Amino acid sequence: MRKIESAKKLSYVHSDIRGSLFMEAMRMEEQGIDVLKLNTGNPAAFGFELPESVRAALDGQEALGLGYCDFKGMPQAREAIYDYEAGKGISGFTSDDVFIGNGVSEVASFALTPLLNDGDEVLVPAPGYSLWSNSVYLAGGRPVFYICDEKADWYPDIQDIRSKISPRTKALILINPNNPTGVFYPKEILIRIAEIAEEHNLLIFSDEIYDRLVMDGLKHTSIASLAPDLPVVTMNGLSKSHCLCGYRCGWMVISGPHNLTEEYKQGIRQLTSMRLCANTLAQLVIPAALKDTETPNSMVMPGGRLYEQREAAVAELKKIDGISFVKNNSAFYLFPKLDIQRFNITDDRKFAKDLLHAANILLVPGSGFDWQMPDHFRIVMLPEKEVLRNAVKRLGVFLDHYHQT
Ligand SMILES: Cc1ncc(COP(=O)(O)O)c(C=O)c1O
Repeated sequence: MRKIESAKKLSYVHSDIRGSLFMEAMRMEEQGIDVLKLNTGNPAAFGFELPESVRAALDGQEALGLGYCDFKGMPQAREAIYDYEAGKGISGFTSDDVFIGNGVSEVASFALTPLLNDGDEVLVPAPGYSLWSNSVYLAGGRPVFYICDEKADWYPDIQDIRSKISPRTKALILINPNNPTGVFYPKEILIRIAEIAEEHNLLIFSDEIYDRLVMDGLKHTSIASLAPDLPVVTMNGLSKSHCLCGYRCGWMVISGPHNLTEEYKQGIRQLTSMRLCANTLAQLVIPAALKDTETPNSMVMPGGRLYEQREAAVAELKKIDGISFVKNNSAFYLFPKLDIQRFNITDDRKFAKDLLHAANILLVPGSGFDWQMPDHFRIVMLPEKEVLRNAVKRLGVFLDHYHQT
């Protein structure tokens, strides 16, 4: 028998968050080395606890999740999601246009697969969370990267978006707030993106999984709320706002004129019904979690863990020569820039590997986020502030003498 080969389409797929550097960190841990793993946005791994609202919602209710539910999701959960997204100003949808899945990670492919024919193009942000470029490839499409501009607070570059549109462009993906930059976008930028979508008949996908984790008294706007006449697929979930990554609970909402999206939604129904339903236990907690605004708010307000950890990380980073950054205002991440001339960096994976070996800190290099230059890396701001402060100090000490060879 011939050896079993993997499909060619996998050669484009990359997951650096749990990729070879992560394996190397695991190997080091097996040898008894204590590695600070700043590679995933997984709050539970850093001591964030189960919210009381979620515990109470599950208590004694487990039997309710015994059977398969509606392939779109449990009605009470979809109603709660409807209320949440409508509360953000999104219109032109009902709870029948809500599809619940096992995390945004799963929902992404349910959204892309029914849209794309082989070779269709999708505008994807760079830097951006690689789930999106990977999912476009796997759905048969081709991601075309548009730049988020560091010099403009990491906002999407409107000119660049326009220049990348071709007759094959079908959709535009927005990650708002963005992972890895940790910034979210003002209304003016969102309106300009909506105008482009209307002009070129693009479906907008907006991944808003960090929308409740916004700091500094600011408020997140959903692009769908500014574009009631456009089809928009808004994604969200409980992994981050309620620290429930392991529950695998995400959703998408398709808003805008029904006559434009009916055929597309039929494709989604086909796919989601094929896998019967999403995890029901996680859906049981959706109504209570979405009412529980205290859990996310308490993390991002002054005195809250995320806020204080960001302040600690930023204060230490400022002290490092050869690093610059845009201060983040949301999510769990910072995406600092390295002075590559000073450190002679030509390979950001090598930089991350050298840091791992020298300082026992695991970071994801910028290339893991579809960033083309070797000059960035991502910091996850989830460890307690003293741990984070210490880690950034160690990074500074490492860089004091670093010269890539
Ligand atoms: C922007 C973004 N979208 C989606 C996800 C995955 O979310 P889920 O846990 O709902 O699959 C992540 C996880 O880090 C993320 O950063």
